[in-house]
Amino acid sequence: MQMRRARRLLGTVGVVSMLAWPLGAGADDGLARTPPMGWNTWNKFVCNVSETLIKQAADSLVSTGMKDAGYEYIVIDDCWQVSRDAKGNIVADPQRFPSGMKALADYVHSKGLKFGVYSDAGTLTCQSRPGSRGFEEQDAKQYAAWGVDYLKYDWCSTAGQDAREAYTKMSRALRASGRPIVFSLCEWGVSEPWLWAPGVGHLWRATHDIQDCWDCSRPWGGMGVVHIIDQMADLYPYAGPGHWNDPDMLEVGNGGMTTSEYRTHFSFWCLFAAPLMAGNDLGAMSSETREILLNKEVIAIDQDLLGMQGRKVRDRGPYEVWMKPLTSGAMALIFFNRGSEAGAIDVAWDRLGLAPGMSVAVHDLWTHKDLGLFKDRLEFTVPPHDVVMVRVTRNP
Ligand code: GLA
Repeated sequence: MQMRRARRLLGTVGVVSMLAWPLGAGADDGLARTPPMGWNTWNKFVCNVSETLIKQAADSLVSTGMKDAGYEYIVIDDCWQVSRDAKGNIVADPQRFPSGMKALADYVHSKGLKFGVYSDAGTLTCQSRPGSRGFEEQDAKQYAAWGVDYLKYDWCSTAGQDAREAYTKMSRALRASGRPIVFSLCEWGVSEPWLWAPGVGHLWRATHDIQDCWDCSRPWGGMGVVHIIDQMADLYPYAGPGHWNDPDMLEVGNGGMTTSEYRTHFSFWCLFAAPLMAGNDLGAMSSETREILLNKEVIAIDQDLLGMQGRKVRDRGPYEVWMKPLTSGAMALIFFNRGSEAGAIDVAWDRLGLAPGMSVAVHDLWTHKDLGLFKDRLEFTVPPHDVVMVRVTRNP
């Protein structure tokens, strides 16, 4: 999307949001005031889901300190459902979930965590399991009865359906269920949901499926981290408390990228105020993975209560600077080197909206060091495919 178009759309987004807000879940209902955080089965385990896996993930979220760092939703993605019974009720795989979904939700809740499931607006999910089309109210009631707190709702097998209508239908059904349920729209950004989804859901996928790679592209639309960063760049006007752009779940720790690349991935997701859904094997995390996923200073940037998505403020070949405004007039900056050689990346105060001569305090969010006071400009040498991420405080 071009900048001019983004600005034009910005003018209409307020009106669109106001029209959409009375429709259903996601209206300013107090849910997801900060971007949801948790763990989802898909990126690592694909269809290999079971109650054992979910219970282990819940245990690990607590024992690794991830719960304390803010990760709270455990979400079962595709493949938990196998059929509908004679009354049309959705049936969970009895082999993989022998104790049933209610008992599993209770287990997750007993750990102080929240429980999420996945469905699809069409007739079939992306893995050809039964979708919710025509069963929206029945499914929403069932989820509420189980104790579901989060629904990810996909967009496969939806030929002839209108996205806004289909998502609004489930949104209303969730609201009518009487249980607060975070509604995560997953139609990959195809119908520009940032224009109509505030008020329908709490987050909407802005891009196609993330791949565990730096800059690969799949013929069917899947893409690496760098391409997602570029697609998110112009969407900053549309995110805010209760309604977030979703650049897809985290691949940190899944093995396809270097530690620098995973650090870059996580830093950008936090600068974007993105939902942080870890997607790795929590029981087998390396110390590098832990250091990234558990960096509370960077998570605090994601969860900042102002709820603004960061944007690019400087672009010089492979060198970029990105800025996210924070509460109290502070800001987070990413100095990003997308090139293959180390390089010096700088930014002057005018690009950051700081008055000439103003002195600011700078704190490195990855080394956790105070770097001192700076005037007029900042410059860092950044390794290839890596970032320096800092918090800048005015008038220290
Ligand atoms: C789609 C979604 C993914 C995942 C799979 C499951 O591709 O975008 O995030 O949920 O379906 O089949």
